[in-house]
Amino acid sequence: MKNIDAKGHVTGRSVYVDDIPTLQGTVYGLPFGSPVAHGKIKEVDYSKALNFPGVVKILTYQDIKGENQIGGIFPDEELFAEKEVHFQGQPIALILAESDHIAYQARKLIEIEIEEQEPIVDPRIAQQKGQLIFPPRTFQLGKIDDVWQKCAHVFEGRADSNGQEHLYIETQGAYAIPLENGNIKISSSTQGPTAVQRTAASVLGVGMHRIEVDVVRLGGGFGGKEDQATPWGVMAALGVQVINRPVKLILNRMDDMKMTGKRHPYSSDYKIGLSEDLKILAYEATFYQNAGAAADLSPAVMERTLFHATNSYFVPNVKATAYSCKTNLPPNTAFRGFGGPQGMYVMESAIAHAASELNVPKHRIQKKNLLKDGDEFPYGQIAEDVGLHQIWSDVDSKFDIEQVHKRIERFNDEHHDVKKGYSLQPVTFGISFTKTPMNQARALVHIYSDGTVGVSTGAVEMGQGVNTKMLQIAAQMFSIDPAKVKLESTNTTRVANTSPSAASATSDLNGKALQNACKELIKRLKRSAAQHFKVELEDIALKDGWVVRRGVATTMTWEQLVDKAFLERVCLTENGHYATPVINFDKSIEKGHPFAYHVHGVALTEVTVDCIRGSYEFDSVKIVHDFGQTMNPSVDYGQIEGGLVQGIGWMTMEEVSYDPDGRLASNTLSTYKIPDIYSVPKEIIIEAMETEGSEMAILKSKAVGEPPLMYGLGAYFAIDYAVKAFNPNFNSTFDAPFTNEKVLMALYSNKE
Ligand code: MTE
Ligand code: HPA
Ligand code: MOS
Repeated sequence: MKNIDAKGHVTGRSVYVDDIPTLQGTVYGLPFGSPVAHGKIKEVDYSKALNFPGVVKILTYQDIKGENQIGGIFPDEELFAEKEVHFQGQPIALILAESDHIAYQARKLIEIEIEEQEPIVDPRIAQQKGQLIFPPRTFQLGKIDDVWQKCAHVFEGRADSNGQEHLYIETQGAYAIPLENGNIKISSSTQGPTAVQRTAASVLGVGMHRIEVDVVRLGGGFGGKEDQATPWGVMAALGVQVINRPVKLILNRMDDMKMTGKRHPYSSDYKIGLSEDLKILAYEATFYQNAGAAADLSPAVMERTLFHATNSYFVPNVKATAYSCKTNLPPNTAFRGFGGPQGMYVMESAIAHAASELNVPKHRIQKKNLLKDGDEFPYGQIAEDVGLHQIWSDVDSKFDIEQVHKRIERFNDEHHDVKKGYSLQPVTFGISFTKTPMNQARALVHIYSDGTVGVSTGAVEMGQGVNTKMLQIAAQMFSIDPAKVKLESTNTTRVANTSPSAASATSDLNGKALQNACKELIKRLKRSAAQHFKVELEDIALKDGWVVRRGVATTMTWEQLVDKAFLERVCLTENGHYATPVINFDKSIEKGHPFAYHVHGVALTEVTVDCIRGSYEFDSVKIVHDFGQTMNPSVDYGQIEGGLVQGIGWMTMEEVSYDPDGRLASNTLSTYKIPDIYSVPKEIIIEAMETEGSEMAILKSKAVGEPPLMYGLGAYFAIDYAVKAFNPNFNSTFDAPFTNEKVLMALYSNKE
């Protein structure tokens, strides 16, 4: 089935928050943020702004009836700064005006006096000063201290990866309208409708039942709207509460870039020990996560870094420690991979370091240490249905690694100013929210009396195609024409207490809840048909819009059955619930079985580096990916291409840059470059490794949202290879992104 949004997107008819027709009397909200990264607020003078014609009101913390608090995991973040500011752009007030133009003019008239304090932007400095968001955590396997002396080779180093701007095409925004009796409806561009509802309720000092949150779809989220869509929805709702008029709040691009958190930059130390025959015997890593000024989702992101610290490899002795470091940057947040990519990058750097010192191809070490069934992850889960060896040999048989190596070596021998490089990048990603209670979902299904179907779930469509998958499931369960099924918006009054759409688990969780609802409805309908045909319930089936009795078609259509059941007063509505079985995790010992299953794959990346200019082009990325049994190839292949390109962007060109004062320098699209059609690989081949698939995956179709991003890690190491071909004296810096400037420096550093 095609993505049901394809036509709407291409014709520009798909609706986003800013497209919702505004009601008469709507006012426009514009946040006023801190001009400095750290300081004490001495005085704010709003009088000139308030006197500007068309300004209706300026909201501050003083207008809050409930709690001035939006922290999701820890209560450490104010909606509006009261006395201190901790990052540049931190909201202090919300201007409400008759037009956004007026609001922008008024914003310039606010006068603020801040006693500046020294900002910290470096996570290692924050850690040294004891500025941690919460205490460090360590995952351990085996006995690391005893093994180092048994290793034939030990290498130590440092690896840094930078942040990443989400750059969803639709910026953060919300539209809140007053309903009767003080109730408020918020249309929000959020991955987590319940988070917006819960936080709005507590800030406004009302019950959650007073707040309805509705989401049609997002113009991209990528994790940036898991938690950080919340303040804007809450501010709009607060405006409604205070002035009893509809409030629209859409961030412009520059405000969005400045005021919201991004992927966490990490600075890390590694130590890797290998045997003579290249088995990794020991791996130690220390991660310094740059959390920004408040916790946001950092504890969970940090946890996933630890879960994925050894990526696709089995290492018998592991010690991985992570510090969540408090700095004066906007609170960093979820971003596709959720800390996993940052952990894997350090492991890959350590292997690249070892390979370079030992003068063996990196992939020899990678292959030698691939996970297999029965291996234990450092967090205690035992690897099952791994298939990595199969995937690797598929890559080899389809794309011939040795041949690629020879071809590239020959090219490099024959060319002086242009060099090629390649890399192999295995990926292993755990599917489930690492916080076990979040792994639940609900779905509400109505069969209307004419046989059409309305489906509501907790899933938020953000371009990943989850609505298409939900529609497919309902149509398949009832065996009816998909045109008879409608996917409703995601709404907290229809489906309550939702987990955010995240962790790549949205279609597994919501799809299974939807299946459960459908199963119950089917049972009721079959009972009605069984009575009619005077047979057992098991003798009835629903097939292609018809009722089938003992394998033989009847004259009763789906519509007739529905109508009959309705007249018999059978309930044609059902609420399905699903909670992932088996999973658990005990933080006190850092062991358990946190993931329903893992997704695996391997990417082979080839790059050509222009050694005069330092620029590069990706010739190809060839991937063998474990889909299980994909329920929608076009959606899933799209996720792989998109994830890959986003990962390559993070590793190569996207450079989030803060100056030492904590001001975002890369605050526009001219200073922050993301991949465009010219910079994507010239060839992307995606081969499915069809496996049995996990029962825990919806229709055995494995989660696909985040894992492909990590194929992009291969881009870094392919460039590293090419640079070394030109300049054998180059000592890898493992300082991502490997921008053209850094490549140029690398090509000529210590060059003879
Ligand atoms: N794909 C598109 N087009 N837009 C997005 O915002 N978000 C990614 C991924 N793919 C995203 C996307 C992230 S961060 C996650 S967690 C998953 O989709 C969420 O959706 P899923 O759980 O349905 O895979
Ligand atoms: N992944 C994504 N989002 C999350 C997670 C996770 O594991 N935990 C909490 N939010
Ligand atoms: Mo995705 S980072 O789990 O929203």
